[in-house]
Amino acid sequence: MPDTLPELLALPGVLAALAAGLWAWRRFHPVSFWYVLAYPLTAVGIRASWRKVALGCGLTKKRQRFWWTVTPAAIVSTGTVKVRRTFRRVAVDTKPWMWFPLPTRYGWRVTIRLLEGQIPADYSEVAERLAHSWGVHAVRVSSDKPGRIRLNVTIHDPLIRVDQIPPSTDLLKVTVGRLETGGAWLIDFTTVPHWINAGATQSGKSNLANALLVGLAPQPVALVGFDLKGGVEFTPYAPRLSALATSRSECSDLLADLIGRMGRCRTAGARNIWQLPADDRPVPIVVLVDELAELYLMADKSEKDEIARISTALLRIAQLGRAFGIYLFCSGQRISSELGPGVTALRAQCSGRICHRVNDPETATMTLGDLDPSALDSARAIPAEKPGVAIVAHQDGHWYRARSFHIPEKTAEQAAHTYAHLTPNWADIRAEAKIPA
Ligand SMILES: Nc1ncnc2c1ncn2[C@@H]1O[C@H](COP(=O)(O)OP(=O)(O)O)[C@@H](O)[C@H]1O
Ligand SMILES: [Mg+2]
Repeated sequence: MPDTLPELLALPGVLAALAAGLWAWRRFHPVSFWYVLAYPLTAVGIRASWRKVALGCGLTKKRQRFWWTVTPAAIVSTGTVKVRRTFRRVAVDTKPWMWFPLPTRYGWRVTIRLLEGQIPADYSEVAERLAHSWGVHAVRVSSDKPGRIRLNVTIHDPLIRVDQIPPSTDLLKVTVGRLETGGAWLIDFTTVPHWINAGATQSGKSNLANALLVGLAPQPVALVGFDLKGGVEFTPYAPRLSALATSRSECSDLLADLIGRMGRCRTAGARNIWQLPADDRPVPIVVLVDELAELYLMADKSEKDEIARISTALLRIAQLGRAFGIYLFCSGQRISSELGPGVTALRAQCSGRICHRVNDPETATMTLGDLDPSALDSARAIPAEKPGVAIVAHQDGHWYRARSFHIPEKTAEQAAHTYAHLTPNWADIRAEAKIPA
């Protein structure tokens, strides 16, 4: 007995020490805390509550099953109802079959077998309900096999702070940020040659262009800037730019040069420069356009012809550029059809789509096209205090939430100076001595 009292008194101390230890573990090594302790408990909880959650989110189906039921049998003399348990066929709510959740860096993923008549869209529609039921940041639905879907769950928003990853060293591939899944956000011009980068002011468009410039600067590529806002965006990067156009007529001249190069490649018999031996291959050119709308806005009628010329040239590059190593990266606040049919046609040719925070739902729709509606909701939900967060659409039909690395102008300017010696001369590109005759 005398021993018990001190032991009892020590108990709160032990508990407090345990709690502090757990807190410190979670605080200082969240990854091991998640895998060793939090994940197993979460996974068991998810499995245990799946029936309730599925029922609440409307994902169950009625099925005929043999089930124990309770039916009133008779009223006995005391007035109480006597019940009888019977085993019979009744309609019960059946939940979709769930595999055991597997841990990921930012949450977990789980495969679910669809019930008859269900499609993946049924799950995308209730993704927000599922997220709230589980108390997590987001639930994303993907399906790689008929009859099955995978739910990718992120517990906290992984894009609040984005840590750097080593740059890509492959030609025309740049790691510009991180995807919500924790993977690298790669802009790969070799698979997706032309990009639309939309967003309101201060949403992070220029930051993304900076990231691209920093990534491409050390590579053997020519960079061209179209900056109709008087050159304020790209002039500091001039040392690494082979050409910079700050007026519409300069853009028109540069586009004529680019079209000319495509023509010469074709005359020389090179229908696709990537089939040429590396030594004979003309240098790839990435055209960075800031504020695309400026190219199309007409102040008076006299500009009509020039705009039409630019519009046609951009469209031709978008249609044929890939084979001749010319790639477009067009940024803009509104890339809408009000700017004319040229923009609509150009947009259709740009399969890479990036939508930063936007002010109106139409811009999101125009940028992301007819993607999954939840992508549009996600784009509209990007908060102003998270510049650089964007929805990225890929040709594969999947979309991702991502955030670019923060690349201040100073860093991009520094990169432009460091790699200035790699800048191909525009006169050489025009002459293109390397193309075999
Ligand atoms: N990924 C990011 N992480 C942190 N801050 C960012 C990020 N992207 C942009 N910013 C900040 O947001 C502000 C607006 O970015 P900017 O790229 O100039 O927007 P836009 O060109 O769309 O007007 C800048 O101050 C920039 O430093
Ligand atoms: Mg900008």
